[in-house]
Amino acid sequence: FPATVSVCKQLLPVYDKPLVYYPLSVLMTAGIKEILIICTPRDLDAFQSLFGDGSHLGIRISYEKQYSPDGLADAFLIGEKFIDNSPSCLILGDNIFYGNELSEILKTACNKIEGATILGYQVNNPKSYGVIEFDENMEMKKITEKPESPASNIAVTGLYFYDETVCSRVKNLKPSKRNELEITDLNNSYLIDKDLKLINLKRGCAWLDTGTHENLLEASQFIQTIEKRQGIKIACLEEISFNNKWIEIDALKNVAKKYKNSSYGNYLEKFIKNYV
Ligand code: G1P
Repeated sequence: FPATVSVCKQLLPVYDKPLVYYPLSVLMTAGIKEILIICTPRDLDAFQSLFGDGSHLGIRISYEKQYSPDGLADAFLIGEKFIDNSPSCLILGDNIFYGNELSEILKTACNKIEGATILGYQVNNPKSYGVIEFDENMEMKKITEKPESPASNIAVTGLYFYDETVCSRVKNLKPSKRNELEITDLNNSYLIDKDLKLINLKRGCAWLDTGTHENLLEASQFIQTIEKRQGIKIACLEEISFNNKWIEIDALKNVAKKYKNSSYGNYLEKFIKNYV
């Protein structure tokens, strides 16, 4: 990402808030309160000053460094202590999800603690993703990472739910040709054990890519369009936390004051006025 040498992509704004707010909002919507952020050593301070320990959001955020880009599945080696043999969920810091059915889906996935659950989404450019191959009964046969000739146009999104066997499974993975522990290999290990569930996101749901500058701009435009049209805010973390009954109205007031004169602060002010 050449233009972001001094700022990591997840801290860049998508419309009016940092990109990382969007995946964090997904976790919070799912009711997840214990969150580990894994980032490069260089970006740790920036994430810490953005979120602190998360208490102002009614959640607990801890941090770990990934020293080299050893793959997404490496998160489960880095986070093994944090996970502490419990079920867990991984979301990529640059994935944006939006849609009405999402909160139900998230709750269903969080309630199923056996095996793994992945989300599938129809895309125009499957070659850029993990792609699901189906058999004649539309059962999952195999997932292939960035295939030259995709077997379908159903991509695996960057939101994964795993049971407590995940860390030991990752320990058995071999690095891929690009020398990474692949999330796709982890998912295939569950698939081989017939323990992988797929939830297909329907066409009314949006899963946005932020892989290129163009994608980032498109994501900003998408968020702006919905927010302006409806007067709602997508991924307003304080609002989600308040609706989850994790923080009180006073906490919202503090944030509204802190961000006053910005659209984010104005939105919170309006939200508080409507509530009181
Ligand atoms: C990663 C995964 C891929 C998945 C994608 C979703 O790709 O390896 O399987 O479909 O995230 O965003 P990457 O972001 O490493 O290109």
